[in-house]
Amino acid sequence: MAAVIVVVTLGIAVSVVWTHYYGAPWLPASMPAVRRMLDLAEVSPGDVVYDLGCGDGRVIVTAARRYGATAVGIEVDPLRYLWCQVLITVLRCRGQVSVRFGDFFSHDLSNADVVTCYLLPETNLRLVDKLRSELQPGARVVSNVFAFDGIEPLREDGDTRLYAFT
Ligand SMILES: C[S@@+](CC[C@H](N)C(=O)[O-])C[C@H]1O[C@@H](n2cnc3c(N)ncnc32)[C@H](O)[C@@H]1O
Repeated sequence: MAAVIVVVTLGIAVSVVWTHYYGAPWLPASMPAVRRMLDLAEVSPGDVVYDLGCGDGRVIVTAARRYGATAVGIEVDPLRYLWCQVLITVLRCRGQVSVRFGDFFSHDLSNADVVTCYLLPETNLRLVDKLRSELQPGARVVSNVFAFDGIEPLREDGDTRLYAFT
């Protein structure tokens, strides 16, 4: 029993350090916050929505099932990536939702209509150049909780903010 507790504790510690190193540890957005992000970005059927660090997949699944979007999640935590793969299979939304494993800084975002994120202030700052250089005119970016410091949002709803980087 003690060994199980040690292994689980170590696993959680490694996951927190690993994901924090890449951009942010896992903390799921509340479902009202997920809907606020997607509403603020005015996601509509046919939009391509990327969630940077998709966690347990709640943003991408909601974007596809409730808003009719094509959703792409990128996740660096192997366990959460696998969880998302199982989730989209069980919910039969593989046609509309895909999940990529790895660091979102290494993935091309140029076909995104909407980018959602719930990261950390310093990770948002590191993202600015990438968003500016890859997103097409008209693309919207919504950040939950943490602002893009120094950049004026187009609109806000509580602690959810909408930006345009193009
Ligand atoms: C605060 S959670 C947000 C999860 C989800 N987007 C939500 O709103 O419920 C941040 C997620 O980003 C992932 N992450 C952090 N940095 C990353 C990176 N550079 N590339 C891919 N995923 C990353 C973490 O593993 C974690 O699952």
